Amino acid sequence: MISKVCVMGWPIAHSRSPLIHNFWIHQLGIKDAVYERLPVAPKDLVDTLRHLRDWGFVGANVTVPHKEAVYASLMRHDALAHRLKAVNTIVMTEHGLEGRNTDGYGFMANLADRAPNWRAAAGPAVMLGAGGAARAVAAALDDAGVPELRIVNRTAARAQTLISDLALKCAKFFHWDDMASALNGANLLVNTTSLGMAGERDLEIDLTPLPSTALVTDIVYTPLETGLLTAAQARGLKTVDGLGMLLHQAVPGFEAWFGKRPQVTHALRKLVLADMGITEDSA
Ligand code: ATR
Repeated sequence: MISKVCVMGWPIAHSRSPLIHNFWIHQLGIKDAVYERLPVAPKDLVDTLRHLRDWGFVGANVTVPHKEAVYASLMRHDALAHRLKAVNTIVMTEHGLEGRNTDGYGFMANLADRAPNWRAAAGPAVMLGAGGAARAVAAALDDAGVPELRIVNRTAARAQTLISDLALKCAKFFHWDDMASALNGANLLVNTTSLGMAGERDLEIDLTPLPSTALVTDIVYTPLETGLLTAAQARGLKTVDGLGMLLHQAVPGFEAWFGKRPQVTHALRKLVLADMGITEDSA
């Protein structure tokens, strides 16, 4: 019997998860396994979860707009999905479907991979944004031991809700106008807003207050080099692009479904970049 895994979302046509997981399925010689896209309209979500096992799926990834709804629909979750109230990975266990969340793992693993000398505990982190993606990043930075998390968001109430929902003791809210004080002395700047994404306007921030040792990263990966990363490089700062977060968040799910831990390699990155129309070998 074929072991099927899917990524469910709406729309889902552009998901690169099949490319990543099918690469690993072939590379690791997993027999009779396939990873596919499953378009699921919001009205069909509960029904899809109910039938997932009958349809031959041994697991799934969950993407926009279903992460919170899947959390609400499942009976079981790991601690992180429970904390975030959002699920990006579904694993079949002997007790039924279990919702997990690997987005924060992906974020931290990407930094460990591309900026191995960076240390969470070395200074304050600044996070731009307080949406769904920001929750996973904030929890991961909190768990990694940042001494202070400065959250800059356009809408104050949304940042305050994030801070209280995640019980972040180390977090402080900053208005966008207070950006300079937020950046002052920071050890990390991460963008989790949609600004800088293809089709959106760029983030326009004066990075002068950042220390020369600060790391700058963006979870946006289309384009791979966002305006923020270009500006940071122009200031001589170390940068990490967001593609690695996508690649690394896929690792724990694959291991749970297929029993082998895959690696995020240069070859995988190159494959996904090629799919994005980027061929530079140095990327
Ligand atoms: P995601 O799930 O990808 O994080 P989201 O939940 O819609 O998406 O969150 C988008 C984030 O980008 C939010 O922090 C949003 O700020 P608000 O909370 O004020 O809405 C931020 N964002 C989007 N467009 C923005 C803009 N033009 N200026 C500033 N922030 C913006």
